[in-house]
Amino acid sequence: MNDLSQQPALTRVFLSYARGDDEAFVKRLHADLTKAGFTVWFDRESLMSKGLTFHQEIKDAIRTEVDRVVYVGGPKAALSPYVREEWQFALECDHVLVTPILRFGDYEHVPGELSLLHCEDFRDDANYPAALAKLIASLRQPNPKLGALFAVPNLPPNFLGRPDLMRRVRDALLVDLQKPQVITGADARVGMQGMGGIGKSVLAAALARNRQVRQAYPDGVVWIAAGQKLTDDDLLKRQRDLARHLGGDDTFASLAQGQGVLRQLLAAKAVLLVLDDVWRAADAQAFDLLGPCCRMLVTTRDKGILDALHGELVPVSLFTEREAPARRRREPRAGRTSCQTVNINSPSAYEHHLENRSRLHQQHLPRYAGGTGSSGALRVPQAAAGIAAAAHPSRGCGPALGRDLGAGCAFGLSRSRG
Ligand SMILES: Nc1ncnc2c1ncn2[C@@H]1O[C@H](COP(=O)(O)OP(=O)(O)O)[C@@H](O)[C@H]1O
Ligand SMILES: [Mg+2]
Repeated sequence: MNDLSQQPALTRVFLSYARGDDEAFVKRLHADLTKAGFTVWFDRESLMSKGLTFHQEIKDAIRTEVDRVVYVGGPKAALSPYVREEWQFALECDHVLVTPILRFGDYEHVPGELSLLHCEDFRDDANYPAALAKLIASLRQPNPKLGALFAVPNLPPNFLGRPDLMRRVRDALLVDLQKPQVITGADARVGMQGMGGIGKSVLAAALARNRQVRQAYPDGVVWIAAGQKLTDDDLLKRQRDLARHLGGDDTFASLAQGQGVLRQLLAAKAVLLVLDDVWRAADAQAFDLLGPCCRMLVTTRDKGILDALHGELVPVSLFTEREAPARRRREPRAGRTSCQTVNINSPSAYEHHLENRSRLHQQHLPRYAGGTGSSGALRVPQAAAGIAAAAHPSRGCGPALGRDLGAGCAFGLSRSRG
């Protein structure tokens, strides 16, 4: 028997789906979730009233009326700008959890941002009762407290998930967090290393925004933009920003004093520091004052930085065959609803990406091998353009796409909405 009085005062659920996938399924799900005690919004048209824009109406509902958004995965949902708008906005609301489920297609119809979340499989009708029971159990879990995001950049509009790589770095960031011992070396510092423009900063931002990561660092996830030309004054400013965000005194006058203050502040907190684009080990060491529940994620082109920090190195390369061909499989198949891609909007864009990638490998990789000199720096936009072509096929490969995420995003300038 379903004793509703025993259940927490949750849960208001928004079903985000595309009509062209399977509306009958969504109606069934709506009825069953309602029967289980949830308040369910599922018809976005009922939310739209004359005079208000679609986006505003939905956003208001998600912001004020909803605890969970269930993304109903399928080929049409993967391509629908409305559906994307819904789950993306939900991800920005700390009090809303997004839960993907899969109705049609394969797991590639789950967008990159949701790819590390558990996704219940509803494709087989025979399995519906079991899948529903698991979904209901997950929707009844209380929403966890998330660490606030400080200065973490937004993801590019067509973010491509790289689940294997992200999972590896995420797991490294979560390992042994509960152990009350002072952690050292590779347990505490994880570095993503690879050539400029390859996607390190984007992945770091995606990890910083990951719910499991934020849950593990309830005192905050702090983005610190380093860069090639960081002066001592810049470092001092970043130390002060960090001290202020952690609720401490930010009036210290030297890096050494700052280190003392930060060491004390971080000793009893659970904070993830993301140091983006580190060129000198000393820049990272100015913040390497981690308490037992803190960790540092570094992005760098230089493997030597991780050696100096005694951190775990995770190499980041161009999209691998394993990551990339997944996008090929999204081409329309005989006898199935026509589907293209989640993030790349046409199969030809993917071909374009492959061409770019192989061109980059042939033309530029040997020259990158020399390290991070100025000649390498000149080629950063070209490498970035290869990835950006995959992510933003409609926008071409202009140099603006190679913009480093760290630029213009110095720590402390803005607090992201998270
Ligand atoms: N996973 C991704 N999804 C979508 N676009 C990406 C992705 N990774 C990189 N890009 C694009 O490539 C550009 C360069 O990536 P970035 O992370 O700044 O490189 P790096 O930090 O390695 O120098 C980004 O601004 C973005 O346009
Ligand atoms: Mg970068």
